[in-house]
Amino acid sequence: MAFLFLCDATRGAVFAEVFSEHLPDVRFCMDPDAIGDDDIRFIMTWNVPENLRRYPNLEAVFCIGAGVDQFAGASIPPGVKLVRMVDQGITRMVAEYVAMAVLSLHRNLHLYIDQQRRRVWKELEQRSQAVDRRVSVLGMGVLGEAALRGLQPFGFHLSGWSRSRRSIDGVTCHKGQAGLREMLAGTDILVCLLPLTGNTIGILNEDLFGALPRGACLVHAGRGRQLDADALLSSLDSGRLSGAFLDVTDPEPLPPEHPLWGHPRVVVTPHIAATTQAKSAALTTVQNVERLLVGADPTGLVDLAELSESNFSDQR
Ligand code: GLV
Repeated sequence: MAFLFLCDATRGAVFAEVFSEHLPDVRFCMDPDAIGDDDIRFIMTWNVPENLRRYPNLEAVFCIGAGVDQFAGASIPPGVKLVRMVDQGITRMVAEYVAMAVLSLHRNLHLYIDQQRRRVWKELEQRSQAVDRRVSVLGMGVLGEAALRGLQPFGFHLSGWSRSRRSIDGVTCHKGQAGLREMLAGTDILVCLLPLTGNTIGILNEDLFGALPRGACLVHAGRGRQLDADALLSSLDSGRLSGAFLDVTDPEPLPPEHPLWGHPRVVVTPHIAATTQAKSAALTTVQNVERLLVGADPTGLVDLAELSESNFSDQR
């Protein structure tokens, strides 16, 4: 029985060590040609590997990242499970990034960075205290919930929006289109952590920005294709929005000539909000393999029917 690791060798070395310690009966390998196709029961990858049917005993494909939009429309053989990475390492990093970006926007850091570039020493009016600032998160899965909990100690008014109603202590929870409008109208800093699906492509658009109070800010750590960059730029220039932190763009990397790079009220980071941490991800994966071996569902099991419904590759 083998586990085929198709990601980078550096993380592979850490996985190999964790597997040999915790799952000595599962052969861990990084070279598909070094092992018989029949032996491969599990694959870890970021992209959809070609011809998964070549592995007749394949049970599960593990995605090394939290997002699985790249698998929408992929042909995964019947009975094979797709598992996304639900891991404390990623969850903690997302919560940190959101706290950093929200606090930065709240305390005008994006504007002070611009002033520093221009060698301007000038105090800007701090219009609100955290207890008067409303922060809302789009997407209340594991990551959204962690982000909201990370913001709680600062005293912000917190809201969240998800497809089905969630409940988190101290957070006003919304769902559906009407819920979205209601939440946006009472949002000073909007955080997007939504997965990319047919329904969320282009969701951060002129209409949505227009539903926010004037001067609101955006933190985007979902997926680049959810953002209409032109709408963001014109909303920033008209004062509708007053700042943005962007960790994801379309395309990635953001081309050097793109106007977002040089915008004085935008901070761009290169998709680093969370990166899969090899040690904790390896331990999480070991636990999931152990679950599969006793016939239980792994943590992060993806609903393939739902994923294939959101096959949006032709909607770009
Ligand atoms: C990063 O964006 C991930 O999906 O893990």
